[in-house]
Amino acid sequence: MGMRVDLDMVVSGRRIVTPHGVRAGHLLIRAGTIAGVEDSAAVVPPGVPVLDAGDDYVLPGLIDSHVHFRTPGLTHKEDWAHGSRAAAAGGVTTVIDMPNTVPPTLSEEAVYAKARLVAGHSLVDHRFHIGVDPQRPELLAGLDPTVATSAKIFMAGHHTAPTVLDDPGRLEQAFDAAARGGVRLVLHAEDGGLFALLDRWWGQPRNYLDYEPRRPRTAAIAAVARVVELVRRYGTKAHILHLSSAEEADLVCAAGAAGLPLTFEVTGHHLSFTRADARRLGARTRLSPAIRDQADQDRLWEAVRTGQAASLGSDHAPHTVREKTRSVRDSPPGLPGVQELAVAVWTGMRRRWPDEDPDVAAVRLARLFATAPAELFGLPGKGRLETGADADFVLLAPDVTWMLSAPQTWSKCGWSAYEGWTMTGRVRRTVRRGEVIWDAETGSFGRPEGRWLR
Ligand code: DOR
Ligand code: ZN
Repeated sequence: MGMRVDLDMVVSGRRIVTPHGVRAGHLLIRAGTIAGVEDSAAVVPPGVPVLDAGDDYVLPGLIDSHVHFRTPGLTHKEDWAHGSRAAAAGGVTTVIDMPNTVPPTLSEEAVYAKARLVAGHSLVDHRFHIGVDPQRPELLAGLDPTVATSAKIFMAGHHTAPTVLDDPGRLEQAFDAAARGGVRLVLHAEDGGLFALLDRWWGQPRNYLDYEPRRPRTAAIAAVARVVELVRRYGTKAHILHLSSAEEADLVCAAGAAGLPLTFEVTGHHLSFTRADARRLGARTRLSPAIRDQADQDRLWEAVRTGQAASLGSDHAPHTVREKTRSVRDSPPGLPGVQELAVAVWTGMRRRWPDEDPDVAAVRLARLFATAPAELFGLPGKGRLETGADADFVLLAPDVTWMLSAPQTWSKCGWSAYEGWTMTGRVRRTVRRGEVIWDAETGSFGRPEGRWLR
């Protein structure tokens, strides 16, 4: 092959993570896309800047399909300038943002309005999950796929999830309409009616450990069972978010094996913490669905290892320290995570399975946190390092250990549940469509020219 002219950059490395496995080689970058993947640098004309990845893994830019960047209306907790920096520093080049803002994103007009607010503020490319309007679930049947291809349903509510679809008839309408519109539902699957019952039964919580018994697995399992039934009836594509218990994992796996288009996501927090951490971390590890027991965490890791889990998502849900330190009764659920997810999962994989070939772990991370979200949510050109794809990639130094502290985190909320953790693996560089948006060496970011992916 002859010289390749007009190249903007070449990434050379020994561990490039492609859809076909890990290989040595050279990624040729032109005009923000991957113009080729070559064995030899002989095709590169002199003068083209070379980014030498050395022994770092070169992973596809990570795709976090579950973030709450709080625009509009809740920007005291997070905004796109901060949230997208946290994303870039965590190796994430594309996010899909949730609709529980103020006002909520319940219509195509609201999605357009949000996109206008975000334009010029995001380092990363983005897409939006539209929210299902409890009063008009039938809107999903006619949803314009260039505006949204996925819709979020909160089956149970809490502080930051006021728009709840808990009426059985309307829920059924939503599944029906989504199936007709070809929309994938993403679900917060818990039964709020059971929570209300249990709150009355138990009375006020006195300490942070009292939270999980009031928000138990029973309610999550009941809701997932309901979703299985609705998917069976309507054939709706559905993705259960932040799956929390072993029983739910078994149910969804069984449904998938039976041919139903039902999948699930696992978050970094459910993989990293257990209910007992609330003793030390209080409200920091409070989230909805609650973090459960060691056996559940083990089951979720198993789902990650085997690929039963379809995707990893951060559920990046920042609240201010002030909000989190309200009384035990009133502290809102949610924690930041878009910056921590890749390294927390990498750390977990290396510790749990020290004898595993790290290449296998890298391929798994790319699959669950890039390729699969791109496929689930229809993001062409994303999630794979191959010719023709967007030049989104991240350099991960696999063996560097370092301690996470709050000043290194970029979310506007300014804290992390992982403070004090010794992490294995460091995001050294993040590149979005050929532009460096995070350089850990200099601690600098690129320009906020992330695009709305339509
Ligand atoms: O813990 C949570 N926090 N769960 C949710 O479903 C929403 C999120 C938030 O927006 O704070
Ligand atoms: Zn969420």
